[in-house]
Amino acid sequence: MVRVMKDFPTHSFQTLQTPFYFYDTALLQQTLDAVSAQLARHEGYRMHYAIKANANPVILRMISAKGFGADCVSGGEVQLAIAHGFAPKSVVYAGVGKSDWEINIALDAGIGCFNVESAAELHVINELALRKGVKAPVALRVNPDIGAHTHANITTGLAENKFGINLEQLGSVLHETLSLPGVEYKGLHFHIGSQITDMLDFQALCNRVNSLSHELSRQGLPVGDINVGGGLGVDYEHPDNAPLADFDAYFDVFRRHLDTRPGQLVHFELGRSIVAPCGSLITRVLYVKEGTSKRFAIVDGSMTELIRPALYHAFHLPQNISSDAARPVTTYDVVGPVCESSDVFAKAIDLPECHRGDFIAFRTAGAYGETMASGYNARPLPKSYFSTDFL
Ligand code: LLP
Repeated sequence: MVRVMKDFPTHSFQTLQTPFYFYDTALLQQTLDAVSAQLARHEGYRMHYAIKANANPVILRMISAKGFGADCVSGGEVQLAIAHGFAPKSVVYAGVGKSDWEINIALDAGIGCFNVESAAELHVINELALRKGVKAPVALRVNPDIGAHTHANITTGLAENKFGINLEQLGSVLHETLSLPGVEYKGLHFHIGSQITDMLDFQALCNRVNSLSHELSRQGLPVGDINVGGGLGVDYEHPDNAPLADFDAYFDVFRRHLDTRPGQLVHFELGRSIVAPCGSLITRVLYVKEGTSKRFAIVDGSMTELIRPALYHAFHLPQNISSDAARPVTTYDVVGPVCESSDVFAKAIDLPECHRGDFIAFRTAGAYGETMASGYNARPLPKSYFSTDFL
């Protein structure tokens, strides 16, 4: 039985300074077990957790202990992954703008694969590897020109997006890769976007990968392993109905639609679906204010701890976890204290009447919450606590 946030004894929080992140470790463990069970069904499937989603040390340790690899997008993330138990060979590193020092860090660490996003980057990696007398393992990140049905800011696989090598250039960049002495070709990498809940988007990706593999083989070029990226979405509206993302449906699409050859590995880079459900941002009500036409619940958490509502109009279900069932329901705009009109968590939301000091939890905040926190307005970075801290 998954313990849901509203059942959690809030008296444990009384002495803690808000805002903070609360992570349900049992739920994270359950999620990791569900992913592992899926991977166990297919010998060639490999998971590289996208650590940009949440790089909290406790969470990284739990995930690396499961034997997953890491998907990184900066030299800092490569270092973080390795410092928290991810095997260097299981680290993959993507990003359109890798600096020389970041490439050198990854070369020194001996990571498993650079996901290369342009011919120019390929040549720099080749040179830096030759200088060190090593061969850099590389996959080519392809821009598959597939639109995912998600927020425009988080699609990545369209021709208009900056990511990857476009389909027309792929053949020639692959030729170059094979000719350069400082790199070793490993395969192809794709990522179409994030918070994708329509499995047909992943099916379209499989079809694109299949036709591309077929075309490369026809030209006598190697395909290598396939990395399909991440992107599986979660249910932000109903966090307690579906605490786990739909891993069954997700892996089923790849099992059914991605053509693989014997010995070919399929890499996955899930981030959000692994960590979003287990995290909540816990805030306290500071003031309730009557506006001209609405009522504001002003909490002590803000866009500096959780920027997703301000940046993507994302919804994180607010729950008054201090109220008992007897309180009347009232409609609020739930806002933070930062000096920006966009520092709003939710508009016109019904909550049990809010009083100063009540805890308001913003649910499903385990992904792209703590990692995107900032110090704007000289606010301190949020602390984090784990369900196991309160046993
Ligand atoms: N692989 C690559 C190459 C990526 O760019 C990403 C995410 C992932 C994997 C992991 O995707 P996921 O499984 O988490 O969807 N800050 C935004 C999300 C940005 C995602 C960037 N790339 C948000 O808060 O919604």
